[in-house]
Amino acid sequence: MKNIIETERLILREIEFTDENDMFELESDPEVHLYIENNPVKSIEKIREIIGMLRNQYKENGVGRWAVINKQTGEFLGCCGLKYFKESLNNHQHFYELGYRFKKKHWGQGFAHEATQACVEYVFKNLNIEAIYAITDPKNLASINILKKIGFNYIETFDYEGDLIEWFELKTNF
Ligand SMILES: CC(C)(COP(=O)(O)OP(=O)(O)OC[C@H]1O[C@@H](n2cnc3c(N)ncnc32)[C@H](O)[C@@H]1OP(=O)(O)O)[C@@H](O)C(=O)NCCC(=O)NCCS
Repeated sequence: MKNIIETERLILREIEFTDENDMFELESDPEVHLYIENNPVKSIEKIREIIGMLRNQYKENGVGRWAVINKQTGEFLGCCGLKYFKESLNNHQHFYELGYRFKKKHWGQGFAHEATQACVEYVFKNLNIEAIYAITDPKNLASINILKKIGFNYIETFDYEGDLIEWFELKTNF
């Protein structure tokens, strides 16, 4: 299994089909989904479908959402990475969006901050792009906190299928 990124406490690697139980624990938790689709996954079959889609993104785009692993314990903590958007969102097309979610028992230990920081550094060094975008629910203070800590700027609030969503941007300084 190839490690993509290594930080002081974490390894980021591709999500494998053998991660299905960890992915189910993460994606079936209503609290994890509160500010994302608010539609927690209910079956292992759906998780297999999601892992298949994520693995296709690695092949097609060279990046994707990666598994975040605790280097010391080997535990699967959550996911973090870049999704390539071909379709249009808030008048942008063909852009990379940073996304992250962690199992609730691992919140509040700085893992999300460490993983997202490493992801944006990796992407700016390895892909020829000038900006990364992120979207979040205005009530998701934990997420907004992370984005601001790693240097994202709030740009605007837009309407996404009836919900108000905040749009953030990070420009390269590499
Ligand atoms: C968003 C999420 C990844 C943050 O994880 P986390 O473990 O709290 O993140 P960290 O420990 O790295 O904390 C980052 C900062 O946010 C702060 N923070 C955490 N929860 C917070 C909250 N509810 N309100 C305000 N700030 C918060 C932390 O104190 C820390 O700041 P500090 O270092 O200045 O103290 C986690 O809550 C999660 O997985 N949520 C569900 C999925 C989700 O919403 N993903 C984002 C979609 S846009």
